Formats: sequence, C-alpha cells, structure tokens
Amino acid sequence: MSDLNLAVLISGNGSNLQALIDACAQSDFPAQISVVISNNPEAYGLHRARDAGIKTVTINHKDYNRREEFEADIQAALDKQPIDLICLAGFMRILTSSFVERWPNRILNTHPSLLPKFGGEGMYGMNVHKAVIEAGETETGCSIHYVIPEVDQGPVILQKTLDVRAEDTPETLRERVVAREHAAYPEAIRLIASEKLKKQA
Ligand code: GRF
Repeated sequence: MSDLNLAVLISGNGSNLQALIDACAQSDFPAQISVVISNNPEAYGLHRARDAGIKTVTINHKDYNRREEFEADIQAALDKQPIDLICLAGFMRILTSSFVERWPNRILNTHPSLLPKFGGEGMYGMNVHKAVIEAGETETGCSIHYVIPEVDQGPVILQKTLDVRAEDTPETLRERVVAREHAAYPEAIRLIASEKLKKQA
C-alpha cells in the first residue's frame, strides 16, 4: 500500500504538526505530509513546515466575507495534490457541513479532552482545561476523532488519559495534555493506515 497523503491544517504554534512531521520522518510511518495550510499568516507552524521542506499555503479567513468562499479556496489548495486525510491540528476555524461532507471519514481532529466530555462550540484551548479543573475532574486527556458537521461529536479513534493533580492549573494541564496529543495523533494515523491495509487484503 502506498503511504497516506496528509494535509495538515493549522492556526498557530503547530506542535501537533511537528509531532506529525517527526513521525513521518520515521521510515516505517505509513504517511507523508503533502501540504500544510494555515488560516493565520503568522502561525509558527508555517516555519516548522518550511523547515521540514513541506509545501505551505496561507489562506487568511480575514480576507473573506463568507465562510464558503474561504473554504472554496482551502478545497482548491487541497485539490492541487492527492490527499487521503485532512488532519486538523490546532486549526481554529469551524468547518461548514458542506465542506465536511465532501470528506467523509477523511478529516481528523485532536481535541484536548476526553470527548464527549468538554467538547462543543466554545470548548477549545485553555477553556477546556479551565472547565476540567472547575468541574473537579480527576482524569482528563485527549481525543483523536473523525470530524462530522456537529462540532466534536465525530467517532473517536483513540484517547489518551492522564490524572488531574490537585496542584494543576489550566496551564500545567495543557502542557501535559498536549504532550499526550503528540503521541496520540501519529498513533491514530497508524491505526487508520492498518485498517485500510486490512480492507485491501
Ligand atoms: C492542541 O491542544 C489542540 O487540541 C487544540 O489546540 C492545541 C494546538 O496546539 N485545538 P498546537 O498548535 O498543535 O501546538
């Protein structure tokens, strides 16, 4: 089987992108990153991609009046090369259902909680970790899931858990959760590639 071609969509730091770049550098990893797309021209992740010799495209949502037009340009950028999976990695725009439905079971996202807990609109970044602490949770983690039009409700591919410590702040929790995401995202892609292989056998 040929490797999966990934498009990684980012908005910021791109540490999850970096984890995918590092995974793809392993000779047995069943995927490669074909393009990195950012809606934010200042995203640090764009430097990470360029340093790794990966093609980058910036499509700034602020240049568009309508979400559909923004997404049409994302689609056009994706159409320039074969793409098997779109990996959202800290991509801070919500995709419309017509975009998502064009890529059934082919868009993945990483979310910094144990979905379905602490998911949905407004539950992103530090808000999630704050809510976890306020709710008195003893356990949190991350979820790699398929994207469906309903935000954060797509089927979970895998989760990694960690304990919430009494002394945790949203910042310390974020740090440990992100580290789990870095392991989880490549693992989810390996899992998808091996399922695909089984289907082909
Ligand atoms: C991750 O925790 C992700 O779950 C959330 O934003 C963070 C992105 O971090 N949506 P990075 O840009 O990959 O460093």
